[in-house]
Amino acid sequence: MDSIESLTPDEWARQLGNPKGEIGLAVVEKVYESNSKSSVQAVATLGLHPNDHVLEVGFGNGRMVPEVLKQAEGLRYAGLDLSPTMVAEAERFNGALVTAGQASFYLGSAEHMPFPDRLFNCIFSIGVAHFWSTPSLALSESFRVLRPGGLSMIGCLHPRTAPPFARPDNGFYLRDAAEWEALHRAAGFVHVQVEEVKTQQINAAGTPVERYIFKIVAHS
Ligand SMILES: C[S@@+](CC[C@H](N)C(=O)[O-])C[C@H]1O[C@@H](n2cnc3c(N)ncnc32)[C@H](O)[C@@H]1O
Repeated sequence: MDSIESLTPDEWARQLGNPKGEIGLAVVEKVYESNSKSSVQAVATLGLHPNDHVLEVGFGNGRMVPEVLKQAEGLRYAGLDLSPTMVAEAERFNGALVTAGQASFYLGSAEHMPFPDRLFNCIFSIGVAHFWSTPSLALSESFRVLRPGGLSMIGCLHPRTAPPFARPDNGFYLRDAAEWEALHRAAGFVHVQVEEVKTQQINAAGTPVERYIFKIVAHS
């Protein structure tokens, strides 16, 4: 396989939005290493209760699943991702949790969720919403599959510190705080809070960088 060091920034960017094959696995592993500290912190703020049913959209390699299931007793985790490579890897990594019936992984998109109405208490996605070309669809699907009073949490790129490759021709759609708030309200969400969070990450070249992200928390 090509090494990730040989990818151009545009090739890297496209792998982030739809990781494929060995190189996609390596790119997502690198991203996970970079973001895991802030992702763990974000998951701890979901306030999960015993027996909650949680959906993660865009789970990537599925490394966060054990961390999610640690948050309370009896949780059930479902993951949805459009990359067959990621579904296979997440199932492999979390094989014991799948066998125990605690985790399930689905191939599909945020815009057309393969779930019935009002199934989940909580939905979250980290590093995914900036790939939504039609966020109104993804958010109305999130609203539909959440129970009334359920929680949605999104962590996504902030236009101010996004890398230069995060452009529409590479599948990235950056939005400001007012746009995210309006999109959530139009989908039916209430108590919408869009927060700027400063994070420490590692860029593709392995250099630590300070990056702002949006953390968007809303209720159905
Ligand atoms: C950059 S990775 C982030 C993975 C993981 N959340 C993390 O933080 O390490 C983005 C993931 O979102 C998935 N993805 C992108 N657009 C999606 C969509 N519209 N619906 C579902 N999954 C999507 C990609 O396949 C990829 O696995």
